[in-house]
Amino acid sequence: MIDIRPAVSLVIDGVDVTVPAGTSVLHAAREAGIRVPSLCATDSLKAFGSCRMCLVEVDCRKGCPVSCTTPVETGMVVHTQTPKLAALRRNVMELYISDHPLDCLTCAANGDCELQEMAGVVGLREVRYGMTGATHLEAPKDESNPYFTFDPSKCIVCSRCVRACDEVQGTFAISITDRGFAAKVTAGINEGFLNSECVSCGACVQACPTATLMEKTVVDHGLPDRTVKTTCAYCGVGCSFKAELKGTDVVRMVPDDEGGANEGHSCVKGRFAWGYATHSDRVLSPMVRDRINEPWREVTWDEAIAFAASRFRAIQDTHGRDAIGGVSSSRCTNEEVYVVQKMIRAAFRNNNIDTCARVCHSPTGYGLKQTFGTSAGTQDFRSVEHADVIMVIGANPTDAHPVFGARMKRRLRQGAQLIVIDPRRIDLVKSPHIRAAHHLALRPGTNVAVINALAHVIVTEGLVNEAFVAERCDRHSFEQWRGFIAQPAQSPEATMALTGVPAETVRAAARLYATGGNAAIYYGLGVTEHSQGSTMVLGIANLAMAAGQVGREGTGVNPLRGQNNVQGSCDMGSFPHELPGYRHISDEITRAQFEARWQVELDEEPGMRIPNMLAAAIAGQFKGMFIQGEDLAQSDPDTHHVTEALAAMDCVVVQDLFLNETAKYAHVFLPGTAFLEKDGTFTNAERRINRVRPAMPPRTGLQEWEAVCRLSTALGYPMHYPSGAAIMDEIAALTPTFAGVSHAYLDRVGSVQWPCTAETPLGTRIMHEGGFVRGKGRFLITQFVPTEERANRRFPLLLTTGRILSQYNVGTETRRTANTVWHPEDRLEIHPHDAELRGIGEGDGVVLSSRKGTITLHAHLTDRVPEGVVYTTFHHPEAAANVVTTEYSDWATNCPEYKVTAVDVRPVD
Ligand code: SF4
Ligand code: SF4
Ligand code: SF4
Ligand code: FES
Repeated sequence: MIDIRPAVSLVIDGVDVTVPAGTSVLHAAREAGIRVPSLCATDSLKAFGSCRMCLVEVDCRKGCPVSCTTPVETGMVVHTQTPKLAALRRNVMELYISDHPLDCLTCAANGDCELQEMAGVVGLREVRYGMTGATHLEAPKDESNPYFTFDPSKCIVCSRCVRACDEVQGTFAISITDRGFAAKVTAGINEGFLNSECVSCGACVQACPTATLMEKTVVDHGLPDRTVKTTCAYCGVGCSFKAELKGTDVVRMVPDDEGGANEGHSCVKGRFAWGYATHSDRVLSPMVRDRINEPWREVTWDEAIAFAASRFRAIQDTHGRDAIGGVSSSRCTNEEVYVVQKMIRAAFRNNNIDTCARVCHSPTGYGLKQTFGTSAGTQDFRSVEHADVIMVIGANPTDAHPVFGARMKRRLRQGAQLIVIDPRRIDLVKSPHIRAAHHLALRPGTNVAVINALAHVIVTEGLVNEAFVAERCDRHSFEQWRGFIAQPAQSPEATMALTGVPAETVRAAARLYATGGNAAIYYGLGVTEHSQGSTMVLGIANLAMAAGQVGREGTGVNPLRGQNNVQGSCDMGSFPHELPGYRHISDEITRAQFEARWQVELDEEPGMRIPNMLAAAIAGQFKGMFIQGEDLAQSDPDTHHVTEALAAMDCVVVQDLFLNETAKYAHVFLPGTAFLEKDGTFTNAERRINRVRPAMPPRTGLQEWEAVCRLSTALGYPMHYPSGAAIMDEIAALTPTFAGVSHAYLDRVGSVQWPCTAETPLGTRIMHEGGFVRGKGRFLITQFVPTEERANRRFPLLLTTGRILSQYNVGTETRRTANTVWHPEDRLEIHPHDAELRGIGEGDGVVLSSRKGTITLHAHLTDRVPEGVVYTTFHHPEAAANVVTTEYSDWATNCPEYKVTAVDVRPVD
């Protein structure tokens, strides 16, 4: 971005320097290549001026100001190295060292400690102040956090940790309490890190210049000796990390300052919860069995591949070509997903390929393609820094997309206004220094009525951005939509009884969105996982176009993708009707391109979606499935239905790290690779293609794509690639938006956001800037249709589900890490009034039943959920939340309606 601050020229140590006004003398010196000793200052935090190491002398000025808090002035003449400054700095250092354990040789930070380094820089040779007076050397350690230690005996009270927690993470969990000699870092109200508000993001650990805050892995194993840059494999933020290793063992993960998505920040999962990659539960050898009630037999790769191929072939010989299919995984790399869909289309010779995105963001793909012309979010994460109004719908960024959540909170603390549309009071509604301007706590299942009511206000109160609509949108569709949305039936007053949101709140939120400056919408699965998920995405796009809030910095429609590579798995052609790049399988020109490259004739008919495959299995027509990195038996709705379908098949092949719930129904288990072993790319929620580099060789002996290629070859369609890079070259050759992408290019430029083409070689930060990808933006009618799933006398409460920060998805990985200290089980949030009515107390066991099934959980009483609504997470198989979810799904995409299930809750007998 262009810096518009005026330039200021000064002289530092005889060197002429010109920097933007407001720059500190310390930074100006750095610009000139002059290093001023410092301890409490860092590049990423606001200056604090506490350590007094960065003293300088300035001509015609008395005293020695600290350079980190002194702004540059025109004509200043600064000296950073004088005998007087050297003496002062040595004295400061002597004071620090006089209250510091002299155990450098055995300290975990030896060689990586800024205090040690500065002692060298200032030439410390003696410490005149003895250690006979009062010191902090006996201060007890806080070892409560599972991942890092806090040893206050080494603390220099520089406040870097506190500032990192406040400024970067925005949790305000730690503070410097007391003054003078008694000043110390305190977590929470003196309650230790584990019991405080701390979310274990690790920003303080990274900021600490000494060994006070230190990763336990470094304490145990010593400092790393090599680094591999890669990408977190948890959520759709796609944070870049430096995996720091000793040999092939990871010692720590350090978020990369140059990471486009995270800019040096991380959350507890990416930074600390990587131990699952080497967990003893991991299966490292292929296994087969004839029947699912038999024990597994370990076999060689060749035997496993031959077994799977012969079973798949036998099924097709007996039941026809369409009797097998597969599911690709949004946890896997683009390259791995690409070869799976290619195997299905070219070796299975059908289009029965679907992906786990079916159960999360398929309505996003549909809705944004229909309205804007492309199935992806419009902005990069950085764009939020220019938003004046942020509307969060059915998403919980601080739990599910924590690093972006921290960035959003930063913008909110700077003064952006917040509108939250969610039945539950998520943390953002009220957190330190943040208060939502409006929280629309709607009844689950009424999203579309609310988005229509917001649009109704904009249309009927003259808030439409007529110039934007006239220039950028399809007039005919707009006029039709305007007529529909202006009907009194869509008004906040008419829909209030249904949605539970006061009309005035809806009106105020709509006015703020339309007139508050740049307004950006961020949404999650609370939008898509409904029977009207696609309608709601259309409604969001309509709203953004009507208010002219799309196509520029600080605005847009931004789906927060759940898994690390949901965007990528969709881009790679994982849907049964689309080839890579979202091109319809029935399109002859597209098909011809793939046929020419793949040397195979492709089926022009779209294949089956996951629900169709499962239903066909129960009907006895679908007999075999290849399941890549997905736990259908735990993550898909109506578990009994899913397991019945899996049990009915003759050949289920699971490719995964662990024997998950689905593997109980598998005949072949192909061990998968953890992200630290993968070589490829992930595409995050902002369309950013990030490199995933192997920090260690695959512990199974094969990359996942190699196993798939072998299976395809055994099925009669040979697939051979020399590397993951070669797969990406093929993707780029066949997918216009990936045209300029290659591993070598990404290694050079870091990351790019697709479209990355000859015209946009550095990618595209913001979509639809000059015009929509489809030409004119299209408005679509969004009639509210209530879900079939309704509360009634038998099931009077509505269950909705979500995620928690420390666990991830069905918990396969995070449950195998120390993250379980924060979330050992899924609990049922219930409003105290609903609990009281049923005789339920805090922590009581409860039975939750729906039309589909019954589960037991422990209750947590909270007014975060409104009366009539209960909420749980689905991270633990014991709770089996999907036993109770229903078969209802989105009308356009079959995305399951996870977010609305009518239930009854009773105390455990
Ligand atoms: S780990 Fe993160 S949340 Fe916890 S104290 Fe440190 S910076 Fe704050
Ligand atoms: S814990 Fe580390 S970062 Fe925090 S005040 Fe002490 S030395 Fe500074
Ligand atoms: S925010 Fe997401 S991508 Fe980033 S470290 Fe956390 S889990 Fe990984
Ligand atoms: S770096 Fe300037 S006072 Fe610490």
